[in-house]
Amino acid sequence: MFDLNEKVAVVTGANGVLISAMAEELAARGAKVALLSRNADKLTQLASDIEAAGGIALAIAGDVTSTESLESAAKTVLDTWGRVDLLVNGAGGNSPDATAMPGKKTFFELPTDALRFVTELNLLGTILPCQVFGKIMADRQSGIIINISSMAAFKPMTRVVGYSAAKASINNFTEWLAVYMAKEISPNIRVNAIAPGFFLTEQNRFLLTNEDGSLTDRGQTIISQTPQGRFGKPDDLLSTLVWLASPGAGFITGIVVPVDGGFQAFSGV
Ligand SMILES: NC(=O)c1ccc[n+]([C@@H]2O[C@H](COP(=O)([O-])OP(=O)(O)OC[C@H]3O[C@@H](n4cnc5c(N)ncnc54)[C@H](O)[C@@H]3O)[C@@H](O)[C@H]2O)c1
Repeated sequence: MFDLNEKVAVVTGANGVLISAMAEELAARGAKVALLSRNADKLTQLASDIEAAGGIALAIAGDVTSTESLESAAKTVLDTWGRVDLLVNGAGGNSPDATAMPGKKTFFELPTDALRFVTELNLLGTILPCQVFGKIMADRQSGIIINISSMAAFKPMTRVVGYSAAKASINNFTEWLAVYMAKEISPNIRVNAIAPGFFLTEQNRFLLTNEDGSLTDRGQTIISQTPQGRFGKPDDLLSTLVWLASPGAGFITGIVVPVDGGFQAFSGV
């Protein structure tokens, strides 16, 4: 039911804090994992770590906002392993420049370049890999796509403008592509998303912690709104990833699964 042995997985944003844990988990379960990210040095280290643990990995430098770069990465994967079974669209993130900060920068002053950067990275950076690797799945009439959304998709976070909008559109796109694949290509191609709650990582550290490591007011608010009373850890995402990627989830497509310690369920009262 949860067998991933010998599956070929492409994981974008693979050297990220959350996504590297996902790549390692897939490899530990016997999948061959193509690690794709802009930062080639860190990827090589991750590939070595996976191989040292007995897994199979391939590091590929690539840009999820460039079709040309993705096609080159896809060729490398096909030349090496001959197929793609699973795509995890992990590349994404926020930018301080696209975030309204009280006393520093209002919504009206957010630079166009910064807004373009976060919307392109998160939205286009999900759609383009689905085009390139989804086409390979379409040719084989089989495959699984897992997008990475966010709690910000369901309810926009204060200050976080472009990122919230981009993640909301990933939910919409996940539903759209799930229907398109099932009805027009093959019911054996499934598309789902995972929406992490609050995980303390590099993309949000500047909002959630002070320089001395203590929580900011915003960080404290998040903990108070998370019924389980803590930030998530990368490992918290892994069972959902494995479930959605497995044959056991064969009748599940078009959903966004929150992994959030109860944040979404809590009214605050
Ligand atoms: N950290 C959180 O609390 C949180 C919460 C909800 C959702 N998410 C989402 O989870 C995903 C992973 O988050 P993370 O904290 O591990 O991120 P991270 O910043 O640690 O890693 C992001 C990765 O994406 C790569 N990347 C950036 N731009 C790229 C591009 N154009 N092409 C290819 N690779 C590129 C980076 O090199 C890095 O490896 C993101 O989509 C993020 O938005 C994170």
